[in-house]
Amino acid sequence: MIDIHAHILPGVDDGPKHWSETLQLCQIASEVGISTMVATPHFIPGAYTRGVREGARLLKELEKGLEEEDIDLEVFLAAEIEPFPEMIQWIEGDRLPLYPSRKHILIEAPMFSLPPWLEELLGDITASGLIPILAHPERSPMASTSLPGELVSTGGEIQLDAGSLLGFWGREAQKWAWKMVNNGWVSYVASDSHRAGIRDPRLLERARKALVKEVGENLARDLTEGNPLKVITP
Ligand SMILES: [Fe+2]
Repeated sequence: MIDIHAHILPGVDDGPKHWSETLQLCQIASEVGISTMVATPHFIPGAYTRGVREGARLLKELEKGLEEEDIDLEVFLAAEIEPFPEMIQWIEGDRLPLYPSRKHILIEAPMFSLPPWLEELLGDITASGLIPILAHPERSPMASTSLPGELVSTGGEIQLDAGSLLGFWGREAQKWAWKMVNNGWVSYVASDSHRAGIRDPRLLERARKALVKEVGENLARDLTEGNPLKVITP
């Protein structure tokens, strides 16, 4: 599997605090059959910015740690970006990290409110030639709006959290997650790992099994391997 959304860099957001936990998360990932992980530290202007400022250096350190600990995992760097009004100018100025494809950008679905400018921003991003991947809309108030469906019909993509499919985020998020899968709107399922033992890569393994059972082997593979491969391929 290829996990395109994970908070594994230490001390940059609400993910692991220390290298020991980072490596533990990577070890778990490797054990459950994840070959590749994209570190996606939060980028929230005024709150979390270190993951973007220091991400490249931390990724190098991580690669060294994986080699030393003999953990078989390939890692890349992107970011989970909280939408903000000037975002399109930042994208045009090449100030925000994209996925290795250089075509995809991960945008956090707002968890508590829906900014009135969000739909326009997503349209502007698509118009700029990028593909916005909306992270976990099933956990957002937007789940009950027309926004997820419209995003997909206008060239955007949706990433669900593995935990949502399993009920980790409650029945409501679980209901929306499966509805989006069954509507054919979902391109990716990712672990959104934060902490070993609580929110870790095992969620993705369990979600994959649930997907195989509910929607079949082929779609389960597309959502956790085939589509993610396009995001990490330049
Ligand atoms: Fe996240």
